[in-house]
Amino acid sequence: MNPQAAELNAVLQTEGAAALRLLSQKGKAIFFPRKGLVAQGMDAKGKAINASIGEAKEDDGTPLRLAPLASRIELNPADAFSYAPSFGKPQLRDRWAQMMKEKNPSLKDATLSRPVVTNALTHGLSVAGYLFVDEGDSIIVPRHFWGNYRLVFAEAHGAKLETFETFNGDGPEAGFNTAGLEETLLAPGEKKILLLNFPNNPTGYTPTGAEMDAIEAAVLKAAEAGKTVLVMTDDAYFGLVFREGIYEESPFVRFTNLHENVVACKVDGATKEDYVWGFRVGFLTFAGKGLSPKALAALEDKAAGTVRGSISNDSHLAQSLLLAAYDDPAYAGEKARAFALLKERHDAVDAELAAHPEYAQRFVALPYNSGYFMCVRIATGDAEAVRQELLKNYDTGVIALGDLIRVAFSSLPKAQIPTLFANLYAACGNV
Ligand SMILES: Cc1ncc(COP(=O)(O)O)c(C=O)c1O
Repeated sequence: MNPQAAELNAVLQTEGAAALRLLSQKGKAIFFPRKGLVAQGMDAKGKAINASIGEAKEDDGTPLRLAPLASRIELNPADAFSYAPSFGKPQLRDRWAQMMKEKNPSLKDATLSRPVVTNALTHGLSVAGYLFVDEGDSIIVPRHFWGNYRLVFAEAHGAKLETFETFNGDGPEAGFNTAGLEETLLAPGEKKILLLNFPNNPTGYTPTGAEMDAIEAAVLKAAEAGKTVLVMTDDAYFGLVFREGIYEESPFVRFTNLHENVVACKVDGATKEDYVWGFRVGFLTFAGKGLSPKALAALEDKAAGTVRGSISNDSHLAQSLLLAAYDDPAYAGEKARAFALLKERHDAVDAELAAHPEYAQRFVALPYNSGYFMCVRIATGDAEAVRQELLKNYDTGVIALGDLIRVAFSSLPKAQIPTLFANLYAACGNV
């Protein structure tokens, strides 16, 4: 093993043993090459003659750049054309950490790693997979999960996705199946990886406060039983909770200081929170009761090493644009506008289903209260046939998932929502 990796593992051994137990073989071997090219480049920074880095410069020392690009970018060229560090742009990492604490008041006094920038959430999940998942490891997820977890974790890292029923009943009044979660966590096995995604894709469900208490209690029980638990939270749709009584903070806050055997890994980013799907900026943040600041920094190094070995570093242009937006006085108001727009569409779905009790003969909504989506269960069970019928005869596109149809209400003007459900009802009657 590379001595720099061994050094990080030695820190974890004494100051974050649970994290060391959870690391995969690749996670144990990875490190950020502080002593290589990057370090030599840092040494050369500010020298009158700097012939160290792989970036071309104009004669005045600013990044060499092409006018058709430069003319479209108002940012300082150094904040757009040059490389960002593999860890991410430092000011953005700190700003995101500060915003995370504002958005999650329970984190006020929590000890967290500094967020490491990833190429948005998919890449963040993939880096977490690299660090923590060995071939044959199970990842516990509710049955309704984002389908791309199959490629990210099962195909790329050989994980098995171990599912439990998402809900404890069939209708819209059902709740989260915390008993199923607990049973799966307490099943045999020393290493447990739990992946929580709320607001959920595809169901649009976020647990209530009481359900979150039960989820936390289940993880604690597993830890007290001697298991080492990694709780990964995919917070892609963070902040989009539309009903009263639903838990509004990230589940991550529950696991940052829970038990020495629990490590929390927060995967989040600007993609959906800031409506920048194509920008590709996400973050990985670690915490855990048994992890000292040095241990957290060792995990940051391992995450940044994984970034360095996959994408090298994330778009500096996108990172700088976001940082500028966060400092813009219009930012908060614009976020509120976007939230209100999505909430209005969510509420329109509620109203439409309430106004048409006959719809329940052909489809029933699963519980939803947040995020971009909601799902309905098709009475005949053949959602794909309904999807085809909607495409062919109703000019309407949705996603079919087994016996469910997923509706992205987030992408529809409010005025189209009644027609969408009327079309769905009619299409269900035709197949
Ligand atoms: C639950 C969930 N996680 C992650 C992502 C991917 O996010 P990103 O575009 O930032 O990679 C999505 C996108 O659809 C998602 O639904």
